[in-house]
Amino acid sequence: MIRHTASLHHGPSGRDVAAGRGTDIAPAPPVPSGPVSISLTHVDKRFGDNHVLRGVDLEVPAGQFLAIVGKSGCGKSTLLRLLVGLDRPTSGAIAIRDGNGAAAANTRIVFQEPRLLPWASVIDNVAVGLRDGVPSSEARREAANALRDVQLADKAEQWPALLSGGQRQRVALARALVSRPGLLALDEPLGALDALTRITMQQLVSRVRRELGFTAVLVTHDVSEAVHLADRVIVLDQGRVSLDLAIETEHPRHHGDPELAGYERQLLEAILGEA
Ligand SMILES: Nc1ncnc2c1ncn2[C@@H]1O[C@H](COP(=O)(O)OP(=O)(O)OP(=O)(O)O)[C@@H](O)[C@H]1O
Ligand SMILES: [Mg+2]
Repeated sequence: MIRHTASLHHGPSGRDVAAGRGTDIAPAPPVPSGPVSISLTHVDKRFGDNHVLRGVDLEVPAGQFLAIVGKSGCGKSTLLRLLVGLDRPTSGAIAIRDGNGAAAANTRIVFQEPRLLPWASVIDNVAVGLRDGVPSSEARREAANALRDVQLADKAEQWPALLSGGQRQRVALARALVSRPGLLALDEPLGALDALTRITMQQLVSRVRRELGFTAVLVTHDVSEAVHLADRVIVLDQGRVSLDLAIETEHPRHHGDPELAGYERQLLEAILGEA
C-alpha cells in the first residue's frame, strides 16, 4: 500500500505537523475523534507587509458546516491553511478540540485539484488517506467503504487518468474521508467542475456530511454553493469577518429556493459593498 499523499492531516501532536511543508503528512490517530470544535482567538496573519488576517475571532461548534466567502485575495485560503495546521498564525491562537475537549488531530483538506497519484489505482489512492499500520485487508475494506460513500465503488480498480473531473474529485473526497476526520476543510473543491457536475457534487457533499457528521469548513467563490451547503456563512473582508450569517433553510435544499436567494443577495451585498 502506498503511503505518500497530497491529502493532509495532523498527527496526534496536532498543530505543528506538516506546517508549511505542503505535502508531507503524519499518521492519522488510531481512533477517529468525531466532529471537532474550532476556536480562533485574535488570529493575525501577515506575509511581510501584507496584513492578511486582522484579529479574527471565530467559534465553530462541533459538527457545523461553515462556509467562507469573500473577494479574491481576501485571505480565505490563508485562514483554511491555518485551520488545518499547514501554516501558523503570526499571532493569536487556534484550538481544535474533540468532544472531550482534548486537542484534536485528524483534520483533512481537499483542494480544487484532486492531486491523485497517477500510477496508483483509485482504491489505492483512497487508502493513502488512512493511517499507517492498517493491515492491507482492512485498508482495502475502509477504502472501498469510502468509495461507496462517494458513489464510486465500481471504479475501485480504475486508473485516475480514465476518470472524469468530477469522478477524480470524488476520489479526492473519499481519500480525505477514509480516516473519518473530525474536520474536513474544502478549498474551492468544486471550482474546476462544470455547472451541472457542481450541483451533483454539492448534493453529494451535503449528503456525506449529514451521514458522517464531521465539522466542515468550505472556502468558495460561489455564494449559491455556500448557502446551499452551509449552516453558516462568513464574509471575509480586509482581514476581518464582515458578516456572519446563519442559513436556517432545512435540508435537502433546492436551487432556486427564494429563501436561499435572499441569503445569496445579502452575501453578495456584503462582498461587493453594495447598499
Ligand atoms: N505563502 C504566501 N506568501 C506570501 N503571501 C501570501 C502567501 N499566501 C497567501 N499570500 C497572500 O495573502 C493574501 C490572501 O491570499 P489567499 O490565498 O488567502 O486569498 P484567497 O481569499 O484564498 O483568494 P482566492 O479567492 O483568489 O483564492 C494574498 O494577498 C496573497 O498574495
Ligand atoms: Mg484561495
